[in-house]
Amino acid sequence: MPPEQRTRIEVRGLDAYYGESHVLQGVDLTVHAGEITAILGRNGAGKTTLLRAIMGTVVTRKGVVLIDGRRVDHLSAYKIARLGVGYVPEERGIFSSLSVQENLLLPPVLKAGGMSVDEIYRLFPNLRERSRSQGTKLSGGEQQMLATARVLRTGADIVLLDEPTEGLAPVIVDQIEGALHELKRRAFTVVLVEQNLTFALEVADRYLVMDEGRVVDFFDRVDAAAKIESITQYLSL
Ligand SMILES: Nc1ncnc2c1ncn2[C@@H]1O[C@H](COP(=O)(O)OP(=O)(O)O)[C@@H](O)[C@H]1O
Ligand SMILES: [Mg+2]
Repeated sequence: MPPEQRTRIEVRGLDAYYGESHVLQGVDLTVHAGEITAILGRNGAGKTTLLRAIMGTVVTRKGVVLIDGRRVDHLSAYKIARLGVGYVPEERGIFSSLSVQENLLLPPVLKAGGMSVDEIYRLFPNLRERSRSQGTKLSGGEQQMLATARVLRTGADIVLLDEPTEGLAPVIVDQIEGALHELKRRAFTVVLVEQNLTFALEVADRYLVMDEGRVVDFFDRVDAAAKIESITQYLSL
């Protein structure tokens, strides 16, 4: 099978709950190797919950999740991470009391092939300039770069990014876009939760649109232009 058709993440009939609240309802998703898949939908649609359910950090989930053909829906988040799945949460999660360089030296190696600190600095030149700065001193964009870089250090080659451009200035969004193109060039598989449609349309190969915990559309890049009006409706309040 050509590498671009290989499936890395397969989600079938996925349900997720927070207590009594039935948040994901029968979600299906196929993520192809080396592609960027965008998950779109308004606030509360269930995008973050879907990432958490793939990663195994939602307490209650039902349905099937396969990573590289292996069932993981019964595995703990730690074991899923060891299959090469990295998660950059919306709140970014860096050690704010440590410097950029220290943050880059600490992540565990979960799989061989993680990026060296030097490769990270080539991918995110801002981080090289700020290598001795403490986490608390970083801008939102630098925090996003650092959080992503930490995941890339672990050897993860499937990267789940939750709203990486949220709150960032356009010039920084462009840098994040450049980094995503580079990850794609290096055959990383990326799942990108986004509310910034313009950004998603620049980078993604495939699009999943969610509303109220369900999938309402799933299409390829070639069909995206024709879908803009309908997506915009799902993104508006
Ligand atoms: N920890 C939680 N406990 C209870 N309900 C939650 C929790 N996190 C999210 N929810 C609810 O689940 C739904 C989906 O949330 P979420 O996945 O965060 O949506 P999105 O990322 O698309 O904005 C929302 O109704 C939200 O209020
Ligand atoms: Mg969210």
